[in-house]
Amino acid sequence: METNKIREDFPILKRTMSGKPVVYFDNGATTLKPQPVIDAITNYYTYLGANAHRGDYEMSGQVDDAFEGARKTAQKFLNAKHVEEIVFTSGSSMGLNEIAIMVTRQYLKEGDVILSDESEHASSYLPWLQAGKEKGTKIDFIPLDEEGKITIENFKKVLTDQVKVVALAMVSNVLGFTAPIKEMAKICHERGILLVVDGAQSTPHLPIDVQDLDVDFYVLSAHKMCGPTGVGVMYGKKKYLDELQPVFYGGESNARYNKCGDLILKESPLKFESGTQPIEGVIGMAAAMKYIDSIGKENIHEYEVELKKYFLEQTKDLENLIVYNRNAESGIVTFNMKDKGQLIFAQDVASFLNTQGIAVRSGQHCAKLLPDILQVPATIRASFYFYNTKEEVDRLVAALKEVTLENCVDIFF
Ligand SMILES: Cc1ncc(COP(=O)(O)O)c(C=O)c1O
Repeated sequence: METNKIREDFPILKRTMSGKPVVYFDNGATTLKPQPVIDAITNYYTYLGANAHRGDYEMSGQVDDAFEGARKTAQKFLNAKHVEEIVFTSGSSMGLNEIAIMVTRQYLKEGDVILSDESEHASSYLPWLQAGKEKGTKIDFIPLDEEGKITIENFKKVLTDQVKVVALAMVSNVLGFTAPIKEMAKICHERGILLVVDGAQSTPHLPIDVQDLDVDFYVLSAHKMCGPTGVGVMYGKKKYLDELQPVFYGGESNARYNKCGDLILKESPLKFESGTQPIEGVIGMAAAMKYIDSIGKENIHEYEVELKKYFLEQTKDLENLIVYNRNAESGIVTFNMKDKGQLIFAQDVASFLNTQGIAVRSGQHCAKLLPDILQVPATIRASFYFYNTKEEVDRLVAALKEVTLENCVDIFF
């Protein structure tokens, strides 16, 4: 990994924070954007400008080409069988909500069970909870093992005839464990269960092949993989997208309608894309996918795991550090600090790190069932990406060595 060369592509890495060169370790929340992505977005506004699928003039045709070209890029990125399986959304949350609403309305009945787990992000859990209130469906939980992982053994324990959907993240945004999706898909399909995968934290870091994984639905957010905010993909197997009725209606998604109330929708993906899409976002997302492919997902994953191992090695004598996910093979380190036998409030540690120019996330990371399992109210998450360096990890380690109860109070910024 030629990190120094890669870092040149990220203009924001030249800025300072709290008067120091910024160390950005909040990649689980969102990632920084490389110049080719910024250029792709600027190019749309500078030279293209028109709406997509609306005009009969040269400029709009060029937008159509860029927009549908982006769909093909996403198809290739996920190795989807059909381009019609790629639906643009505003991000993972929107995709997961749409899937939960559509699937619950059309495929589920009272008493049916959706399997989730306690490490899920709110966006993977709450849509099923809410959609299920109309129908009387129920959520059960796959028990996590002692480390907080999902295992096939535990998964099998909660499979009943009532389970109709399994909805979970491929990589947990707090603990960074990867769920055994391929094996789960096989088991699900033997029992006629739909598998809905939240790929917000897996797509940026791992090679994803939706055909090989055999997932029924898969979502991603561009902003977590070097792309712009407000755009993502909802992948669904064609047979389901052909059957499902969209949640949203309006321009673009319909073929015709009349005053008698008849409505004929277009086919997927356009039937799910009512209204003007975030065109510059879609184009920027395609640029991000190409950028990530140029680096290589295997390389990204391997490098992040190496950074995490380096962090663990450098902190092995730091007695005040509690790491909750040592064995998770990802770039996520979730931890707390203590001093004089007392846990330091996670947000105070994050604020102290800010004074050292280091950006991390603290709190419950939108996974509000997990603190019960970890038995702490909040944690600090440092999430590495391929543009981070061992020197930056050294700065985090040096800062953590300075963390005391006294240092962490009364910090204002
Ligand atoms: C695992 C997981 N799922 C879903 C989401 C929601 O993504 P977005 O906010 O882009 O919709 C996130 C964002 O943090 C996430 O980490």
